[in-house]
Amino acid sequence: MNSNQKTQKAKLPFVFVNMAMTADGKIATANRAVSSFGSARDHEHLLKLRATADAVLAGARTVDSVAINLGPGPAKFRRLRLKNGLMENNLRVIVSGSGSLDPNAEVFQHRFSPILILTTGRASKARLRQLRAVADEVKVCGRQEINFREAFCWLRGKWGVKRLLCEGGGGLNDALFRAGLVDELHLTICPKIFGGRNAPAIADGRDFRRLAEALPLQIKSFKRIGNEVFAVFRRPLRQ
Ligand SMILES: NC(=O)c1ccc[n+]([C@@H]2O[C@H](COP(=O)([O-])OP(=O)(O)OC[C@H]3O[C@@H](n4cnc5c(N)ncnc54)[C@H](OP(=O)(O)O)[C@@H]3O)[C@@H](O)[C@H]2O)c1
Repeated sequence: MNSNQKTQKAKLPFVFVNMAMTADGKIATANRAVSSFGSARDHEHLLKLRATADAVLAGARTVDSVAINLGPGPAKFRRLRLKNGLMENNLRVIVSGSGSLDPNAEVFQHRFSPILILTTGRASKARLRQLRAVADEVKVCGRQEINFREAFCWLRGKWGVKRLLCEGGGGLNDALFRAGLVDELHLTICPKIFGGRNAPAIADGRDFRRLAEALPLQIKSFKRIGNEVFAVFRRPLRQ
């Protein structure tokens, strides 16, 4: 069996994406100044989902554009994690193909759990050195593009990640959808319109040109709570 076949066969984590979206399908304003617009209930929902995940994953621009730590949040959610049979604090995984992630980002100021960075051969030696100084491990997975299948097998094999929660942004989500690695999409639809042709959306990357290429999803659940809709989509059972 060659290394490609081994990667195909190796166990992957269950991958779920959680995003808040406006009624016009945006995840931030066009100038990226506003990206947090859900209710307090939506924030609680995010922390509850984190409490079911071994690791939280985010793209470089999400991590270095807002002051977030990707952690489990207050004590009640850390207790919930323990009750769910997980480590008290989730692992944190950041994707930065060129290594452009800001080593001064807020996330690195919070050392409660390991921070892992996935990158590629495009990252210069100098950038790798900077990131290695702030992360617990920097993993090069691919020369130009990240091989997420290989990266996720590594996360499962080396770090015991069975459930991986991706929190965007659109660039990272897009790569995971394309690689066929997303098992569920949790979407909070917020009653707002941001407009703006260049405002980011759930999956921002190379577009599918034909209907036949579109990624099919099935609705798993759909609930109105307060003034928001909480929806869960899943990958069709056979794909
Ligand atoms: N509403 C919500 O729920 C929500 C959630 C998250 C984020 N957001 C917002 O979304 C915006 C960020 O989204 P975004 O799409 O610009 O950024 P992003 O996905 O967070 O990060 C993009 C960066 O991540 C790395 N990356 C992503 N996919 C990659 C791949 N396939 N291979 C290699 N590297 C990859 C690259 O880093 P390098 O440049 O280093 O190569 C890329 O520039 C922000 O405004 C954020 O606040 C909203």
